[in-house]
Amino acid sequence: MNLVLLGPPGAGKGTQAALLSQRLGTPHVASGNLFREAMEKGTEWGKKAQSYMEGGALVPDQVTNAMIEERLKEPDCAKGVILDGFPRTIEQARALEGILAERGKKIERVLLIRVSEDTLIERLSGRRTCRRCQANYHLLFNPPQKEGVCDRCGGDLYQRFDDKEETVRRRVRVYTEETAPLIDYYRHQGLLTEIDGEQGIEGVRRRILSALSLSP
Ligand code: AP5
Repeated sequence: MNLVLLGPPGAGKGTQAALLSQRLGTPHVASGNLFREAMEKGTEWGKKAQSYMEGGALVPDQVTNAMIEERLKEPDCAKGVILDGFPRTIEQARALEGILAERGKKIERVLLIRVSEDTLIERLSGRRTCRRCQANYHLLFNPPQKEGVCDRCGGDLYQRFDDKEETVRRRVRVYTEETAPLIDYYRHQGLLTEIDGEQGIEGVRRRILSALSLSP
């Protein structure tokens, strides 16, 4: 199954994509994680993305599409993929259709996680991310067992540089202007399912599984 998780920054796309990936055994491909890994390693993708990410702007489509295409060519993506944070513009959506069509595939569903602006600011301000495996935690809603340490791999937890309030507000504006048009784009194709993201993590997980007709 090829799925897209859509929603504003902090809606819970990464959290739910990771849970769904475990449930389905399908790889979780997150454009933001790929860019952060590339920045950490100092690769070309990372150098190209850094200034845009620091300012809360979108990395140009050409760069993003090329990075995603390279990732989707890897053998683990052959049977399906859960996309988180990509596509984010109509041009990216068209590029994705082309990449999948070359392999005789298409997007089966797009899940839009809806949350209010107050909720996402609360979620992003308390988020902590593992430097090594990029697992996400929240100081109140999903704390690690040991403060500052990732339950999954033992890596250090840090606050993402783009989770500062000013940058978060810019990211939300960018979402409204550049990514929200995808909602109608996918609705017209009959692919969109809206998920109420205001529940706790487990509540949202159950809603997503139910929308996909999967047992909890
Ligand atoms: P990216 O990393 O994709 O960030 P984002 O889309 O802004 O989304 P986030 O990762 O901030 O939030 P999320 O929805 O995944 O929420 P999470 O599950 O972590 O992109 C970063 C930057 O990279 C962009 O600004 C851009 O520069 C660049 N970029 C990336 N992709 C690009 C693209 N396609 N094109 C161009 N540029 C691109 O949850 C947030 C917090 O809330 C966590 O602490 C979590 O524990 C908690 N939480 C989650 N769900 C719940 C819940 N239900 N209840 C309570 N707490 C919850």
